Amino acid sequence: MPYSSVFVLTGAGISAESGIKTFRDKDGLWEGHSILDVATPESFQRNPTLVNEFYNQRRSQLLGGDVHPNLAHIALAEFETNFNGDFVLVTQNVDNLHERAGSTAALHIHGSLLHGKCGYCEQGFDIIKDMDHQGSCSTCNKSGALRPDIVWFGEMPKHMQKIEEAVYRCDLFVSIGTSAAVYPAAGYSDLARQLGAKTVELNLAPSEKSGDFDKSILGPATQLVPQFFQELLKQ
Ligand code: OAD
Repeated sequence: MPYSSVFVLTGAGISAESGIKTFRDKDGLWEGHSILDVATPESFQRNPTLVNEFYNQRRSQLLGGDVHPNLAHIALAEFETNFNGDFVLVTQNVDNLHERAGSTAALHIHGSLLHGKCGYCEQGFDIIKDMDHQGSCSTCNKSGALRPDIVWFGEMPKHMQKIEEAVYRCDLFVSIGTSAAVYPAAGYSDLARQLGAKTVELNLAPSEKSGDFDKSILGPATQLVPQFFQELLKQ
């Protein structure tokens, strides 16, 4: 194996074949919604019911029994088990398909559908049911600001220090199923390349950064990801 530290960044494309809509593809999640209506702190202040309903639908789809991890999620979990070096998995996805496939330490840079928090005291909690902002917080007792613990535009992404340290360490950076439209995640491949790592993109269609990767391989994640990571283990 020519690499000792592998960094993987995933986006909505890795979960597309599990039946979860991406954001920016045709028929994507944003199609029927303006981002400004459902993914900003201001939109929550303006219409908390609409915002919670948007994420309640996503959560209920995720837990409804029709959505399962696919071969790409499974391949990454198997790689984590079989690779002897340092492996860091960062996902922009708010689903739990990496965990359900067996990944043990995925860093959710944009939060999770299965966590909520109080907008007043920021106390977090697990949530598997519909959320209503009017509920009261069990920590500060205030009501009216319960929301998904998802990073909206203008908010600080999670695990930044850990992620940046891993970008600095890695000698292979693999980007999977992301349009590379949202920063800081979209900038990590540039940083990794500047620091000397090999950078590879696995994506259905060219992303905004395809030309900047050392290698860009186009195709569906369920084919490309198992192939790529099984091959890597054999090197
Ligand atoms: P996008 O919807 O922007 O991009 C999805 C990417 O996946 C596109 O480049 C598609 O070509 C690719 N794709 C689609 N189907 C695929 C498949 N079967 N196999 C491989 N690739 C496939 O989603 P993200 O890049 O993840 O943030 O979006 C980044 C962030 O934008 C999200 O985390 C979300 C959104 O704002 C928040 O909600 C905070």
